[in-house]
Amino acid sequence: MELVGREREHAALRDAIATAAGGDGVILLVAGEGGVGKTALVESALAEDGGLVLRGAADQRAVRPYAPIVAALRAYQRAVPDGLGGSGPLSEHLALILPELGAPAPDTDQATLFEAIGNLLEQIARRDPTVVFLDDLQWADDATAELLLHLDRTLKTAPMLLLGAYRSDEVSRGHPLRRVRSELRRRRRLQELMVEPLGPAETTQLAARVLWGTAGSTLARTLYDRTQGVPFFIEELAIALATAGRWRRQRAPWSSGPRRPSRCPTPSRRPCCCVRSGCRRPGATPLDRDVEPGLSAGDELDDHLLQIIGCAELGRPDKPGSSRQQSSP
Ligand SMILES: Nc1ncnc2c1ncn2[C@@H]1O[C@H](COP(=O)(O)OP(=O)(O)O)[C@@H](O)[C@H]1O
Ligand SMILES: [Mg+2]
Repeated sequence: MELVGREREHAALRDAIATAAGGDGVILLVAGEGGVGKTALVESALAEDGGLVLRGAADQRAVRPYAPIVAALRAYQRAVPDGLGGSGPLSEHLALILPELGAPAPDTDQATLFEAIGNLLEQIARRDPTVVFLDDLQWADDATAELLLHLDRTLKTAPMLLLGAYRSDEVSRGHPLRRVRSELRRRRRLQELMVEPLGPAETTQLAARVLWGTAGSTLARTLYDRTQGVPFFIEELAIALATAGRWRRQRAPWSSGPRRPSRCPTPSRRPCCCVRSGCRRPGATPLDRDVEPGLSAGDELDDHLLQIIGCAELGRPDKPGSSRQQSSP
């Protein structure tokens, strides 16, 4: 998928991939709020590179430790059949998290398990420069976070890019990732990339792409005010407009049709109050105040359109109120 904007971030990822492929292992954390485009950015850079990528993502509901790294190792097993076979003298320790490797060691400790995982990843990377992409690390368990510190040492001279992504607004004080981040910074081993929301022009560009149309200036401003440039929200809002059948595919500017429903046609189908009827759902942006000057100047927005934009449920990805769930590729 071609992204809107993100040239600087793309270049940073390309550099990190190239450095790692040259044999200087890199650990890079991509941060930003939910829905801002971390996963999309990373995937688009990885698609460009075309090298071996092992993916794993932490899950909000997961209770098993090491789940993201286990997923990444299983991805390797799928890509290279029997790739995990012959994983060395510590393989029975690996079997504790990968039962398919055989009988697990009767006894182990965290240091030995870390070593076993580190050795295996090093072995994988020495066969082929590899990117391990661990997504949604805001939900990672303590053991996975701790493992990153160990891997940093093991993979320092291996052709591997260890790429993590996390929601900066969900890593509060005391979160295990914070300690890992501080320690890696102290070691001067951490590259960091902050993904910011899109700007106003990019917001218009993305909405136009979703709706196959172009936006007049008031609509563009309204979309930006409402979404603050977060791509997930921009897509949600664009879909809300399209679902309501209010946009016809046509040349600029978009125009709205004649229908005027009494309820907001949100994609999530949750009832909500309409801005223009005076009541609002909690947290709704007061669009009437922000946009009305544009309207009175005879711009292309109408009451119903404002209702849709003002009432669309813009829940964060993976949270109640969001009509779509994010998926990890
Ligand atoms: N720069 C961009 N251009 C076009 N679409 C984008 C861009 N960034 C994100 N998106 C889209 O926005 C949605 C949310 O992005 P995502 O990468 O899942 O966010 P995050 O991983 O930060 O929670 C996805 O549908 C994604 O394809
Ligand atoms: Mg994501």
